Order: sequence, then structure tokens, then C-alpha cells
Amino acid sequence: MIKQEPDKKLIEKIILLFNEKKYLEALDLSDNIIHEYPDSILINNISGVIHTELKNYNLAKNLFIKVTNLNPKYNDGYYNLANIYNKLGEEDNAIKNYEKVIELDKSYYKAYNNLGNIFRKRNLNKKALEYYILTLNINPNYIRGFYNLAGVLQHFILNEKNKYINRFFLYLLEKKIIVRPNAIATNIINGLFLNTNLKDSFSLIENNNYPKNLNKIIEGLNKNKLLLQFMKVCPIPNYYFEKNFIKIRNEILNEIYNLNFKKIYLKFLISLSSQCFINEYVYYETDDEEFKVNKINERIKNNINKKEINDLEILILSCYSPLYSFDWCKKINPSNELKEIFILQYRNHNKEKKYIQKIKSISEINDKISIKVKNQYEENPYPRWTNLGLSIEPRITKEVIEDINLNVDLKKLNFSKNAEILIAGCGTGQHAITTASKYKNAEIFALDLSFNSLAYAKRKAKELNCDNIKFIQGDLLDLRKFDRKFDIIESVGVLHHMADPLLGWECLTDCLKKDALMLIGLYSEKARENIANIREKINSLRIKTTKKNIINFRKDIFENNTAKWDSIKYSPDFYSTSGVRDLLFHVQEHRFTIKKIRSHMNKLGLFFLGFEDTYVLDRFKRKYNQTNDLYNLDKWEEFEKNNSRIFSGMYQFWCKKID
Ligand SMILES: C[S@@+](CC[C@H](N)C(=O)[O-])C[C@H]1O[C@@H](n2cnc3c(N)ncnc32)[C@H](O)[C@@H]1O
Repeated sequence: MIKQEPDKKLIEKIILLFNEKKYLEALDLSDNIIHEYPDSILINNISGVIHTELKNYNLAKNLFIKVTNLNPKYNDGYYNLANIYNKLGEEDNAIKNYEKVIELDKSYYKAYNNLGNIFRKRNLNKKALEYYILTLNINPNYIRGFYNLAGVLQHFILNEKNKYINRFFLYLLEKKIIVRPNAIATNIINGLFLNTNLKDSFSLIENNNYPKNLNKIIEGLNKNKLLLQFMKVCPIPNYYFEKNFIKIRNEILNEIYNLNFKKIYLKFLISLSSQCFINEYVYYETDDEEFKVNKINERIKNNINKKEINDLEILILSCYSPLYSFDWCKKINPSNELKEIFILQYRNHNKEKKYIQKIKSISEINDKISIKVKNQYEENPYPRWTNLGLSIEPRITKEVIEDINLNVDLKKLNFSKNAEILIAGCGTGQHAITTASKYKNAEIFALDLSFNSLAYAKRKAKELNCDNIKFIQGDLLDLRKFDRKFDIIESVGVLHHMADPLLGWECLTDCLKKDALMLIGLYSEKARENIANIREKINSLRIKTTKKNIINFRKDIFENNTAKWDSIKYSPDFYSTSGVRDLLFHVQEHRFTIKKIRSHMNKLGLFFLGFEDTYVLDRFKRKYNQTNDLYNLDKWEEFEKNNSRIFSGMYQFWCKKID
């Protein structure tokens, strides 16, 4: 009988070449073997996979069709064929083949995942969500599935009960690098109300039967693992939560020396204290609370050497002010329970102070506005973040850029092997660390005016083992002194805070290498209309920028229910002190129109390569279907006219020097 399949060793040899990315050698070998074993399922399948890698999609398709004909029960064959159809844009055929895979093997999680991707592309987000949940129920360790789930949750509002989703939310919040919690916060809030008894706990808080009900309330809240974790990772952008947390904080403060079940309070207070710390104590506080907090502070101060201090009093204080602000803190040897809060509110702060000593400066800051801006961010580094969304793996520069689909012929561009990338105005590092995770072998330079922001960034970079970023202090106006050119420059949310954004942009342009690309993020006049009105009001009332005024102003907005300012309550920035300051009290803010951007680019000899935000791009593509439209600023102007909030996340676009 003729052997159908070649020797195992030959197959292993091809796989080895494939894994070493020697695709052409692998193909030569597999072509030779196919000659001898034309009906080998394995070798036809492998050959298809190699052709897929070489982007010979039609050849690959024919091979996979052959494989499935040779063995109609071979699910890998259907899976590979489905992937090819997907790449060729034949989505209906892809769906059919993924479904065939699932029919043959109900646990083939990648088929569910890829179906989810197709539905997401078709804007069938609810269906996509169902498929990602199916994927993760089969394989709860499939990281790509979590990334996809996080992606779909950013553009879909959960409005039905779902018994699985909270478990996955919890996972997303516990992992530090899959998604920014803010991006999925609305859905987590929905998930908490739909799938847990949070409403009951909150109504007990509101019903005001204290202190009788206090234990019961705290026990109820403690059962809600998702809530406790959520409180630790981002300012919860919802006033209903805020009101209840303010109330419960006050009640615990009142009862702090009468609490019976210490353990349950410890657990809850750790989350509440984290929440207050990460929102930078933006919650309103009464005079009575201030008085009581001072008294506890005095008591601790006077008893610090007698070891008569209990964890609860320290914790409740840390719900009103950060531990580093209390002088006695350095004398405390924290218990195991307190350690988490000590690290968050005391040790991290000390670490950052040490890092500041090591950060090098390129210049003294002389520009008047830069000095003011620096002071703002020294007092309130922004944004203060815990988790973020990093790339699963870094890739070479060209591959990363190829994915953004810019109006540029990549074949003609030369990037250095170790791309040098400048993040101008890196703030607290979220942007720089995200970029560092995308590009293989890149050297990242992260510049900012504010030492405190840079120190925060450096601490977070170390925490995430991100070691290819150099943090530098200085004004981007002085970049000349740094004497370097870059392959990529990214500056998002920075130029509009300068006295003369065009001058700032020019300084960046001067630092571009010949083929270099630049990503710029600027405020949109149209999208920020409402914010501009509130800023005007603040100016007309001559409200000085103090923490107290910020807190009172927020209270006013919440309590007076001015409908015309309502949209501000939906901004996540409205729920932290640095956020409100950045949003409404900034010392310097310019806003742009597409016309103005175009005129600036003309002056600088730059041309437009395309917008960055995939959500914005998807919305645009639903209306304009010609590829060229994507790069036509007239079309974008028209689009923004009809979608005034579309650039609420800023105009973020790529550009390049005209050759
Ligand atoms: C709104 S934050 C944005 C931070 C960061 N790009 C991000 O997206 O997370 C603006 C940052 O730009 C920095 N910045 C403003 N003007 C600058 C200048 N002239 N030179 C360097 N950094 C500047 C500020 O210190 C601040 O940290």
C-alpha cells in the first residue's frame, strides 16, 4: 500500500524552518515532499500555512480546500481555510468554515474568538461579546481573547444581565496591562448594577439607619469582589457611587472607635482608601469630618511611641489624606493588612522622590507659560493611572506602522533598526510605556516639564519591567539642546498647552529624521465647546485654582443640575483632582479646527497621513467608503460638522515632512 504521509522527521524539519522564520527554505522542502506525497494532509496543510505567512493567500486557500476534501473531518484544515477567507475579505465563507470547525470540535476556542472578531468588524458588538465569552469560558487563559473582550467593551453598552461577565471584568482589572480601566468603566458600572446586589447595598447606605446597619452594609459590599477591585484601579466615574462612598466614609469615621468587626472594616477601607487616593481626594468633606480627622491625627501623633495605634484609625485617615502627608508615618511599622495602603500612599511616594534626583534635565525652563504649566503638573501630575493596555508583543517599526494604514509608501521609508522615538510631553508615562510595548528594539526618549510626572512615569515603567525608556526633564522648546533626531515623534495633548503651539510644533518638526513620522494630538474646538463654556464661567467668576475650589465647583455642578453642563459629568476626568484641573482649570488651553491644523501643517512643510483612533476611523468609514477619503481633510471637516463630539478624544493624526 502507498504511504499517504511522509516521515515524521521530515515534517519536524519543515516545522523547525518555519519556526525560525525561514519560510522560503521551508517551502522548498515542503514542495519536494508534496511531489512524493500529493495526498498528504499534513504536508498540504503545512504548505498552506507557509503560503499564508508569505501572503500567497490564493495558493494557501487552494491547499486548505484540498486538505478539507482529503479529510472532511480535519478541523485544523477548516480553521486555516476560514482564516484565509478572512484575510481575503470573504467573511461569509470565513464564518461558514469557522462554524464547521465548531461543529467538529465544540472546544475549538480560537474559532469562537475569530468569529467574534468578524462580528465586531461588522459592528455586531453584542454578538461579538457573546463569542468572546464563549472563547474565554473554554480557555480562561487565552490572553488574546481578553484583549478582544476589552476592545469590544469599549464600544458597546451592556444592558442585560450576564452571569459570566463580572468574572471577566474582574480578570481585566486584576491584570495590569490589558486595558485602561477607565475605558471599560461604564460597562463595569452596568455589570455591577445588573449582576450584583449593589443597588441593595447602596439603598441601605441611603436609608440612613446608622450605626445599626453599618456592619450589614460593609459585609454586603465586601462580598462584591468586582466592586472592591474596581475601587482600587480607577476613579469611579459616577456620582451615585461617589455620593454613597462619601456617606459611608463619614459613617465609618463617626464610628471608628466603636467598630466591632475589625476585619470586615479593614477589607473595605483598603478599597475605599485606594479609591480616595487615586481620585486625589476629590470627594467633598464637611467641617465636622475635618475636625474629626484632625483629632484622630493628633491622637496618633501623641501615641505613636506607645504603640497604641490601630489599623482602622490609620486607614480612615488615609481616606481623607495620603499617608505620606502625615509626619508620623515614617515611624509606623505596617501590619500585613496595612501593607498594601502603605505601598500605595507612602513607599511609592518616597520612591518617586528618589527618582527625581536621578532624572536629567536638558534645560532650565524660561518660557513664562511653560513655567506655569510645569507648576500645574508638579502639583497635579496627570493622568494618575494604575493599569493600561499594552501590546501583546513588540514588532518591528514597519509592521507597526503598516497596521495604522497611513497614506505613505512604506517601501520607500527607512527606519533605523533600533528606532529612536521621542514622546514629547510624556506626562505620567502612560503614553510612553504603551509606545515602548509596541516597537521592537526601540529606544524611547520621554520628555516632560514636570519632575513629579516623570518620577511617576519612571516608577510605573519599572513596575512593568519596561526598560527601554529614558526619562528627561525639559521644555520641548529647547529640544535643540538635546541634539538628537528621531524616527518617530509622538506628542499628544501637549502643544495646545503652550503659549505658541505652532512654535512648539516647529521645534518637534526640526527633530525629525528624513523619513520620520509624527503623531500629534490636539484639542478640537467643536468637541470641547461645552468645556470652553464652563472654563469661561470659571474665569468670569474668578475662581482661583485651589483644591478646595475645585471640590466646591464639582459639588455645585452635581447639586445644581445645570442641564447645559450635564455632559461634563460623563467625562472620566471629572472624577479626580488632576483630571478636573486638566479639564477645566488648565493654565493654558488652545483649541483647534481642521482648517487651522491644515494651515499649520502647510507652514511647517508637513503633510497629513491619517487619523489614529480606530473607533473614529470605523465611524468615518461607515459614511465614506473610498480609501482616499481617509486622507482627505475636507471630508473629515464635513464629517466633524455632522458629528460634533467625534473628536472628543482629540484630533490624533500622523504627519510627515514633505520630501
Ligand atoms: C495633558 S498631559 C498629557 C500627557 C501625555 N501626553 C498623555 O497623553 O498621557 C500634558 C503634559 O505635557 C507636558 N508639557 C506641556 N508643555 C510642555 C513643554 N513645553 N515641554 C515639555 N512638556 C510639556 C506637561 O508637563 C504635561 O505632563
